Amino acid sequence: MKSKTFYAAMLAAGLLSFSACDQSTKQQSTKMTDSTTVGQLPVASGFEKTIDGKATKLYVLKNSKGTQAAITNYGGRLVSMLVPDKKGTLVDVVAGPGSVSDYEDAKGNYYGALIGRYGNRIGKAKFTLEGKEYKLPANDHDNTLHGGKEGFDVKVWDAKQIDDHTLELSYVSADGEQGFPGTLKTTVTYKLTDDNAIEIAYNATTDKATVVNLTNHAYFNLNGCGAGSILKHTLQLDADGFTPVDKTLIPTGKIATVQGTPFDFRKAATIGSRINEGDEQLKSGQGYDHNFVLNKHTLQTPIATVQGDVSGIVMEIFTEEPGIQFYSGNFMKGDFKFKGDKKDDNRTAFALETQHYPDSPNKPEFPSTELKPGQTYKTTTIYKFSAK
Ligand code: GLA
Repeated sequence: MKSKTFYAAMLAAGLLSFSACDQSTKQQSTKMTDSTTVGQLPVASGFEKTIDGKATKLYVLKNSKGTQAAITNYGGRLVSMLVPDKKGTLVDVVAGPGSVSDYEDAKGNYYGALIGRYGNRIGKAKFTLEGKEYKLPANDHDNTLHGGKEGFDVKVWDAKQIDDHTLELSYVSADGEQGFPGTLKTTVTYKLTDDNAIEIAYNATTDKATVVNLTNHAYFNLNGCGAGSILKHTLQLDADGFTPVDKTLIPTGKIATVQGTPFDFRKAATIGSRINEGDEQLKSGQGYDHNFVLNKHTLQTPIATVQGDVSGIVMEIFTEEPGIQFYSGNFMKGDFKFKGDKKDDNRTAFALETQHYPDSPNKPEFPSTELKPGQTYKTTTIYKFSAK
């Protein structure tokens, strides 16, 4: 008979196995098959670091179907999502680095990160709110991109693993941080559901009037991280319009119809089928890097559906946000390390960032991004996976 101590130790080990640093994720490799890149979670120890006096870690979520998601509290980043392909093989569909240091190196690409306080661009790095002008740091031409030089993507969030499928992250952004008014108390909850969806629920309050536009900047390759070009993925977007931009990717303020343009994804088309057409808007973005105006934005029907050509993996996006930035990985240059000894080669991943439209603080005609004391910013986006 084994001792009580042994059973107590076994029980403790069992309980620990679904907490922060899942030991089972430690023997890792990524191998190629003739179809997709087979995924495993990255090594948890690569996420153990101290940044600004705070500990970073890798948190693992699991569901009853064997699907797993890994998230680090460094920038609240979605690191991995292991989902079954059409043959039932688990594939890591999140493209990005495999350690905190590699994420720090690739800072400007925002891999997997929670973006705040204002996702996307604010023109000329300033805006006026209640009669007062606020100046922000410019980090993209003369504009502010993704919250400024030190956005939420490089902050260490406080993490609380609620259970084996839920992680709650919180960050308090001080009044005046990156030029924005008001103390913003932010909570983002990642939940892996049994229908193979990762649900991201955002919540924020302020003590002064401010602007807020939170999003997640996960890059996906539905054939697997590092499995080559995404140009043969098919994309369907429920958007009749998009917001055309100037050369620095600031919206002109107009909403243009997608009809008759390479921006018409109302019927599924491959990402690459029209990307090299001489369209002026595509030249400005060096490919797709545009906000689409969604026809509906509830959690009832998907507004975007993407399918990996090799894996058959389908990703559906549901959101309460009125817009989505479709970015075709145009600025990826192969400079940074990805999981499984891969690199971030050009257009080997895409992002679909749910959001309010870019530069809304300077565009009264766009849906408002203002948040006042007493109000709660609350929005949810779901990425749901299946295969066929
Ligand atoms: C966003 C922007 C892009 C680019 C990427 C990161 O998606 O819209 O222009 O900056 O982030 O490289």
